[in-house]
Amino acid sequence: MADGPITDAEFQQAGLRLAVDGAVATITLARPERRNALTFSTWRTLARIGDTLPDGVRVVVVRGEGPAFSAGIDLRLFTAEGVPGEDALAPRDEEFIRGLQAGYLWLRRPDIVSIAAVQGHAIGGGFQLALACDLRVVADDVKFAMKEPALGIVPDLTGTKPLVDIVGVPRALELCLTTRTVFADEAARLGLAELVVPVADLGKAVDDLVAAILAVRPSTAAATKRLLRAAPGNTLEEQSAAERREQVALLNEHTREQSP
Ligand code: ACO
Repeated sequence: MADGPITDAEFQQAGLRLAVDGAVATITLARPERRNALTFSTWRTLARIGDTLPDGVRVVVVRGEGPAFSAGIDLRLFTAEGVPGEDALAPRDEEFIRGLQAGYLWLRRPDIVSIAAVQGHAIGGGFQLALACDLRVVADDVKFAMKEPALGIVPDLTGTKPLVDIVGVPRALELCLTTRTVFADEAARLGLAELVVPVADLGKAVDDLVAAILAVRPSTAAATKRLLRAAPGNTLEEQSAAERREQVALLNEHTREQSP
């Protein structure tokens, strides 16, 4: 993997833009003419954005330019011609896939809250990118679909775990094997969207959510996310212990701050 700052040429190849404004980083999928199709460069550059995120960033917004959030993997990768500047698709090993998954995994880090702002299609790797984020704010024209099985592959960009955590195994199986589209009403019902708003209001709804999150102390927000993320894998006893641990650390921190 390349070191150092991400160059303009690398952002361009990845179809990404990054804007950091104080505590908020906004990652834009910026290939609207291809409905923000994703390539190996996209996933690797996302991983490098995670690795090089400036200290002090507390919220990461992932959004897509144009009518769709993302049409998933660039289907040209499955052709003999491929995509200029990208590796050929197959045959590949697990380490190769691990490098791509790194692009999504960091969005679960406790020191940040990640928000997917989703309009239009979020297909395959695009759906998994939305699932990789902590929260999903969607426009009422959203169309989620897990198309991988239709291509003879499985969803392998870390999406199966959050999908199952959110909708349960039977519904996840049904969504993946039918590859059908989930529209806004159902997305809200299934818990795939925290908020559904008219398309024109998506930016404002995300801004409001970001402001609410930033109003919470950074250490409190991180402790809360750590706790809640750990909860499904913990017994009640383990989770109660984790609550005590986090609370004592926060109370000690408050006491230290208040002492002269
Ligand atoms: N890969 C490469 N190019 C794409 C992709 C893609 N995944 N999706 C769209 N494009 C291109 C189209 O080829 C078209 O290019 P052109 O203008 O040169 O003809 C352009 O983007 C616009 O696409 P349209 O189909 O015209 O846009 P529309 O808004 O009508 O439809 C939709 C959007 C529904 C996303 C459609 O393009 C589509 O079904 N794309 C393929 C989705 C897919 O199966 N992705 C793989 C998922 S599996 C995974 O991610 C692992």
